[in-house]
Amino acid sequence: MKENGSDPMETVMVNASAVYPVYIGGGLLDRCGELLPRHTAARRCAVITDDTVCPLYAPRLCRSLEAAGLEAVLYAVPAGEQHKTLSTYGSILNFLAESRITRSDCVVALGGGVAGDMAGFAAATYQRGIDFVQVPTTFLAASDASVGGKTAVDLPAGKNLAGAFWQPKAVLCDTDTFSTLPEDAFRDGTAETLKHGLIADKDFFHFLIETDMRENIDKVVRRNVEIKAAVVAEDEREQGRRKILNFGHTLGHAIEKCSGYRVSHGHAVATGMVLAARAAEALGYGGKGTLAAVLAACERYGLPTACPYSAGELYAAATGDKKRSGGHIDVVVLREVGRAETVRLDMEGLRAFTEAAL
Ligand code: NAD
Ligand code: GLY
Repeated sequence: MKENGSDPMETVMVNASAVYPVYIGGGLLDRCGELLPRHTAARRCAVITDDTVCPLYAPRLCRSLEAAGLEAVLYAVPAGEQHKTLSTYGSILNFLAESRITRSDCVVALGGGVAGDMAGFAAATYQRGIDFVQVPTTFLAASDASVGGKTAVDLPAGKNLAGAFWQPKAVLCDTDTFSTLPEDAFRDGTAETLKHGLIADKDFFHFLIETDMRENIDKVVRRNVEIKAAVVAEDEREQGRRKILNFGHTLGHAIEKCSGYRVSHGHAVATGMVLAARAAEALGYGGKGTLAAVLAACERYGLPTACPYSAGELYAAATGDKKRSGGHIDVVVLREVGRAETVRLDMEGLRAFTEAAL
């Protein structure tokens, strides 16, 4: 939906326990001061970013807030998944407290999924929860991480193990910010985008293969957000349907962990989708041709399809190093391109799935 006839900004609404807009378009950083007060009564904003994004975009964001009469205080954490930790999260909470941020103030998360997940978790827990607004600056965060209210940090035992569901008041996605993304970081976003097509929209998937995401970036971000918003509206707390958004993630997270987080999330998810499609086809859960489709899509966007780790290493990382005596895991399989379902596996089943994946 266009805001009005002449405004280039697109708006997608998320209808979860909270209803909020995702604004998409070029130049939105300069409009934060205009747009933010539509969705929060806060007059003071704690802008939480990382030290790569900070010099690139924080001055413009803060200027826009201040021009609208809002006060902005700024905190930059070190960039990178290896800093998505309890310790960094604690430092954000301390910053909020030292800056005398109150319950009627607001956190603004500026950056990729790492900054967004951590700032969101800080907003969810600081003084038992304060408003927050997402300003994603990576293709991945705009298309996936900033929408849907999952916030988290990693623990030594695995990814995103401490977190909260906490919906933002609004998401302001300035697609011009992608122009400074390193090629690999842009590619991370292509992986989650392909995931959305594979699990939920065959026509979108074919559009992605036949065109170039970069050339249609606003349209691609918008369709990603629409797909994710529809799933989140149905199952915000991941009791059922939302699990399909984890296609490629069980083994993708294992790859990230095995690499000591040197392999990025998007790259790991790409390989994870290839592995899941291979295992699903081999074990009869996946539709014929789904592996070929995933492989072709990853190759089209230069994403890695081969896994450097053994089945044993992946299984250990996926389950935690200690042997489990019970429990199960829901893995996502493609019945066909555009249609995903979950299959519940016990630990032996997961072992067989992991072996069939390689
Ligand atoms: P990221 O936040 O680490 O960003 C990647 C790199 O790009 C970082 O070094 C960052 O500083 C830099 N960067 C960010 N914006 C930039 C810009 N415009 N120009 C130049 N450099 C820029 O990684 P990501 O891929 O955005 O996010 C991955 C994270 O998101 C993972 O932790 C993953 O678990 C999480 N995630 C969360 C959800 C969710 O629903 N909450 C969904 C998907 C992924
Ligand atoms: N990225 C998975 C989810 O948001 O549920």
